[in-house]
Amino acid sequence: MSFKIALLPGDGIGTEVIYSAKDVLQAISKKYNKKFEFEAYDIGGVAIDKHHTPLPDATIEGCKAADAVLLGAVGGPKWDNNPSDLRPERGLLGIRKALDLYANLRPVKGFQKLLHASPLKEEIINGSDLLIVRELTGGLYFGRPSERRDNGNAVVDTLSYTRQEIERIVDMAFQSAQLRKKRLTSVDKANVLESSKLWREIVEEKKSEYPDVTVDHLLVDAAAMKLITNPVQFDVIVTENMFGDILSDEASVLTGSLGMLPSASLAENGVGLYEPAHGSAPDIAGKGIANPTAMILSAAMMLRYSFQLNEEAQAIENAVEAVVNEGYHTQDLKSTTGELVSTTEMTQLIVDKILA
Ligand code: NAD
Ligand code: IPM
Ligand code: MN
Repeated sequence: MSFKIALLPGDGIGTEVIYSAKDVLQAISKKYNKKFEFEAYDIGGVAIDKHHTPLPDATIEGCKAADAVLLGAVGGPKWDNNPSDLRPERGLLGIRKALDLYANLRPVKGFQKLLHASPLKEEIINGSDLLIVRELTGGLYFGRPSERRDNGNAVVDTLSYTRQEIERIVDMAFQSAQLRKKRLTSVDKANVLESSKLWREIVEEKKSEYPDVTVDHLLVDAAAMKLITNPVQFDVIVTENMFGDILSDEASVLTGSLGMLPSASLAENGVGLYEPAHGSAPDIAGKGIANPTAMILSAAMMLRYSFQLNEEAQAIENAVEAVVNEGYHTQDLKSTTGELVSTTEMTQLIVDKILA
């Protein structure tokens, strides 16, 4: 049996780190005698340049025909002034919608060796281990209307959610909490937003279905503060699309770098997409210095969630941890000890650990 993986490198460092993930998967294939077939498709800026659309039909079809999708990142200054429908980010939102990837799981767990690399105090982040469950196909990102009026001098974006959209992400979060420390924090802005009021009502309704899970609610502004002053209090955080986007970049500070944060974007039925939480990092693209860890750990999530290859997923995570604990790190980690390495060196160290 062979697993078909669609590769969507995208732009900037996406085109660098995705091949790190591929190398690591090839090492897994060798070590554990598993077969992976890779097929690459265009998305984002590169697709705009080649096909005049950020999301060609062939990419959607290729993803639907695959067993799982790995995505690097999209975007860059070259396309920043394009009209909205010709922006790379539209390709990303489009593939999330086309595959109905409503649940974005972003685990945030620091490595002991890197505690000192975070700008936060070690005693504050020590022991933090949380999961952000971000709703990914609703809210402001997909609101209609979203437009300019009055000759461009007035704008409207719409934040809408249906009961069904909220219920399925809240269920996913409760179920994730049941597999962890059984604590769920729902983050909203229920003191202001109607969408948040319904969100909070639904979380309250669902509590009785998951009696083993302890639930609390936090307003998003306070949650942003608590995330970096007392992160250890959190287990699973569930929140709407844009709040989750912002809080997850903030939470990456606990690990020392955005380049450490993987994610899984899952559908109710159907193919999953695995993507680092970071973007195309135009400031370092092409230099060979990007941190491949987020992408490599996203590939591990793919093995676990889409292929049920738990031992193989664990082997990747163990290899990453071992290499990090030996002190190797890319330049984004402000580590004062250990050895500074490039993207390909870091990847090779992880590959060697897997094959050892
Ligand atoms: P970014 O995440 O690309 O970069 C933010 C900062 O973090 C930069 O200083 C960058 O160098 C650093 N960084 C990020 N990932 C890193 C890694 N793996 N290794 C080392 N350093 C890393 O965010 P941005 O600069 O705000 O956005 C750049 C472009 O990426 C924009 O076009 C944006 O729309 C796009 N973007 C895409 C995705 C995605 O495709 N999933 C996610 C976020 C941003
Ligand atoms: C992310 C990114 C995307 C998002 C952008 C590029 C549309 O920031 O994956 O976190 O906001 O979802
Ligand atoms: Mn983001």
